[in-house]
Amino acid sequence: MKVLDLQFGNVKILLSFAVLIGFVEVLVSLYKRLVVKPEKLREMLRKQGISGPPPTLLLGNIREIKKAQAQSKIKAPLISTINDDDESAAAATTTSEVFVFSLGNTQILHVTQPDVVREITTCTSLDLGKPSYQHKELGPLLGRGILTSNGDAWSHQRNILAPEFYMTKVKGMMNLITESTMMLLTSWNGRIEKEGGIADIKIDGDMRSFSGDFISRACFGSNYSKGEDIFLKLRALQEIMSKKSLSMGIPGMRYLPTKSNRNAWELEKEIHNLILKAVKERKQEAAYEKDLLQMILEGAQSSNFSQQETDQFIVDNCKNIYQAGFETTAVASTWCLMLLASNQEWQDRVRAELTMVIQETLRLYPPMAVVSREAFEDMIFGGINIPKGVNLWTLLLTLHTYPKIWGPYAYKFNPQRFSNGSSTHLYMPFGVGPRICLGQNLAMVELKMLMALLLSNFSFSLSPKYDHSPTLRLVIEPEHGVQLLVKKLQDDDSLLI
Ligand code: HEM
Repeated sequence: MKVLDLQFGNVKILLSFAVLIGFVEVLVSLYKRLVVKPEKLREMLRKQGISGPPPTLLLGNIREIKKAQAQSKIKAPLISTINDDDESAAAATTTSEVFVFSLGNTQILHVTQPDVVREITTCTSLDLGKPSYQHKELGPLLGRGILTSNGDAWSHQRNILAPEFYMTKVKGMMNLITESTMMLLTSWNGRIEKEGGIADIKIDGDMRSFSGDFISRACFGSNYSKGEDIFLKLRALQEIMSKKSLSMGIPGMRYLPTKSNRNAWELEKEIHNLILKAVKERKQEAAYEKDLLQMILEGAQSSNFSQQETDQFIVDNCKNIYQAGFETTAVASTWCLMLLASNQEWQDRVRAELTMVIQETLRLYPPMAVVSREAFEDMIFGGINIPKGVNLWTLLLTLHTYPKIWGPYAYKFNPQRFSNGSSTHLYMPFGVGPRICLGQNLAMVELKMLMALLLSNFSFSLSPKYDHSPTLRLVIEPEHGVQLLVKKLQDDDSLLI
């Protein structure tokens, strides 16, 4: 009996010892991942004279960023674009061109030094790509579609999707843009009539409906009402994801069954099923439509995918096109109308010089705030050694208001700057290089048609209720919306189209 007890005791000791070793191993690997590796990367940058605010464990610099955001709220561009030649706004945002900071344990090198930016954005090596934390953190929203994938998977998707966005194809979508705009015109006409000739309208929601309606038509053709169900769920999912954009990078957060994570997982499942249902119905239909969904379907079928991979490819790329094309154009048209409402002279000229006005809007309010990359190997840009694993961020608003390029009145709304086209490589609302926006032609045509139709039917001024507060969520958007006074143009005012 005693021998048995002794043996049992030994087994217990051995087991406890094994558990202890396992526990210590986990702690050591966590310590390496959360402390040693980030510190090693920062040390390599520090040796090259690049420093930044000291990070805290798990959060990095997230707390400081939130505090700074609350205090500043990207106010500068607003004030002077609306008012006048305010030189102080430009001076206020002159910051260091290269420094490092941390989101959680992700190390980010902020770069706005022009020569380095040029090297990064035009680099075609597959060793440089979209940051891994993006596809991990935005998984429910984007899956492994074109926006966040890298290497061969990305180039395969880019090859399939790119031809659908050539100008010839975009021209074929112009009737869809008109159909979506007409719904907006009818709704605003109704409101102006009801409110006695001039309506005070918060335009953001309407611009989103326009953009969502158009992208649903472009993706799903005549079945666009199905597209709209998917779109509404994607919107809800996007809202959840944009609220946690700064907690991205905090290790482990995305696995916790928090309320917002559970909601996101549920929506992800529903969207997945809705898209596949639309695809199944499509296959049963006799009529053949050449919309974006069809092209994604054919792309998946011509690849050597298993059924599960095919489904994932279709779902992810559908979601990516919605994501890339919906909010960007909606928010760009919202900002464009706000700028025209506060610059009446340009509102008159715009009917002749629309392209310049849109370019200037995208300079001052680039919807995508950051162009980001991750170095998958050690790389060198502008003489800086970038260790493998470091993320690179270029803030577009900083490039777009760089005083050396844009002059002392960089924040002033002045479309005239683009009278000879855009001559600087620092202007990049659509990015540049191999990952340049696929939808650039489509977006410009969409914005021009929408603006032309709106401006030829209505005149706009800022409502006294408008509270200017651009804010950075997934895109740069007006925190409290854009409220405009909208009036019908008299019949003898020019009609563009
Ligand atoms: C004003 C509207 C838009 C703006 C400002 C914009 C801006 C951008 C930017 C900055 C990028 C990333 C570039 C980089 O990382 O270097 C991008 C990527 C992309 N955009 Fe757009 N975009 C707009 C509209 C659209 C539309 C309408 C579509 C399609 C329906 C679209 C499809 C894409 C796709 C597929 C990518 C990923 C390309 C890749 O990674 O290879 N975009 N866009």
